[in-house]
Amino acid sequence: MPETVIDASGTFDFADFEVHRLGFGAMRLTGPGVWGPPADHDGAVAVLRRAVELGVDFIDTADSYGPYVSEELIREALHPYPDNVIIATKAGQLRTGPGAWFPDANPNYLRQECEMSLRRLGVERLDLFQLHRLDDPMVPLEEQFGLLADLLSEGKVASIGLSNASVEQITLARSIVEVSTVQNRYNLTDRSSEDVLDYCHSEGIGFIPWFPIAAGKLAVPGGPLERIAREVGATAAQVSLAWLLALSPVVLPIPGTSSLAHLEENCAAAGVTLTRGQVDELTSAV
Ligand SMILES: NC(=O)c1ccc[n+]([C@@H]2O[C@H](COP(=O)([O-])OP(=O)(O)OC[C@H]3O[C@@H](n4cnc5c(N)ncnc54)[C@H](OP(=O)(O)O)[C@@H]3O)[C@@H](O)[C@H]2O)c1
Repeated sequence: MPETVIDASGTFDFADFEVHRLGFGAMRLTGPGVWGPPADHDGAVAVLRRAVELGVDFIDTADSYGPYVSEELIREALHPYPDNVIIATKAGQLRTGPGAWFPDANPNYLRQECEMSLRRLGVERLDLFQLHRLDDPMVPLEEQFGLLADLLSEGKVASIGLSNASVEQITLARSIVEVSTVQNRYNLTDRSSEDVLDYCHSEGIGFIPWFPIAAGKLAVPGGPLERIAREVGATAAQVSLAWLLALSPVVLPIPGTSSLAHLEENCAAAGVTLTRGQVDELTSAV
């Protein structure tokens, strides 16, 4: 395999897979409010193809992005998939319009969405199937996790992930099914899932921080992010990603963009090295 800019991010192993730790999130390739097709269809296809050229081999999506639009674009851009490219999808969110999301973890619905993702992505087995949210009050968690275990044992999916999960929920899930990854919101300014990151680090579970480049007030002119970015000759977005990568070898950021320029910039973050002092300063800046 030729060397790529992503190589410097290192790799993470789960199930039978080895992926580079800096991935790509395909939610932003849809229309406004994550609804409908993107304004620039060909541009979205080009971003996906360029991501793989740059070495990205871990792509995150969901049935609900569009809905279906993101998965369909991934298939159009990349099928037949190179052997090394791993696609992580999700199910468990109903969509009724732009910006409207409702949890639905009825096991029959989750199974239907697994079948439909197989069909849309054009594969016989999903690489990583993530339960999108764990807050459907109508379905006991044990039933949701039981369905995930069934899909795994039937070979419909190669591995299981949880999203927006607490340590308690992950622990319960692991008593029923092997959990390979957890995807929670986490970035320089939102550390509310710190305990989940610590748990994943100690258990060797992949931690996928979503909304990874949000830097909020840390990015203000004269703030620590801008200064450190200047020190290392990188952009604020790149330092935000480099900080995440430096936190733990189980962290797999999935920055999303519909712009080729931002894609190139984000992938180059794999090669941005922060000193321990810079990482600690950013960690304690919030
Ligand atoms: N599990 C969940 O509940 C959940 C929720 C949300 C997202 N996700 C996943 O996480 C992925 C990433 O999350 P996200 O898209 O919310 O957050 P993000 O990747 O941190 O931010 C994306 C936003 O930042 C902009 N951007 C990207 N690169 C940039 C750069 N280098 N400089 C300046 N702006 C830049 C993008 O706009 P441009 O298009 O203009 O670049 C977009 O508006 C999603 O694609 C999705 O796969 C999961």
